[in-house]
Amino acid sequence: MQIHDKRFKLYIDEAKIQARILEIGQALTEKMKGKNPVFLSILNGSFVLVADLVRACDFDAELSFVRLSSYDKLTSTGRVKMHYGLDDVDLENKDIILIEDIVDTGNTLEFFLPELQAKTPSSITIVSLLLKPEVYQKTHPIDIVGFEIPNKFVVGYGLDYDGLGRTLRDIWQLEEE
Ligand code: XMP
Ligand code: MG
Repeated sequence: MQIHDKRFKLYIDEAKIQARILEIGQALTEKMKGKNPVFLSILNGSFVLVADLVRACDFDAELSFVRLSSYDKLTSTGRVKMHYGLDDVDLENKDIILIEDIVDTGNTLEFFLPELQAKTPSSITIVSLLLKPEVYQKTHPIDIVGFEIPNKFVVGYGLDYDGLGRTLRDIWQLEEE
């Protein structure tokens, strides 16, 4: 499969993603018993995941979005940009489920968590569909990880290469040149 100038091969298929999301939904349902948490989705990449995940959970919840970016095409710039954030969102004493598509270097989380903590929520549960453990340089634990993957660029299921690939139902991995 080709996107722009790069070739990608099938890596995690739709059935496997959906099965894992059901498991994550069950774990969150257990953890959030008696609560109405707030799903806080980090755009753009996590929009597909959050839509599936809210429906895999058996509790009512609020939903909010922030938009952050740090990637330029295939590489992390190391700088995180907040396009829009938490200005008008009240999270005080709320249980937050923070939704990331992928945690790579951890720069995004390290940048964003203090902003979120400043809103004095009562708890923060971090969920990421993907984690690249070889590159993750930060100590903050990711509470729930869908799949640990090697340090190779992936697209699909919300993730993009230079804007495209987000609509793919499976996750695809960059082919070596
Ligand atoms: P950091 O390095 O801040 O990265 O943990 C988090 C954000 O970078 C993007 N990212 C990727 N996007 N394929 C993508 O399409 C990848 O392999 C990849 N690795 C990191 C993504 O937006 C993530 O939220
Ligand atoms: Mg992202």
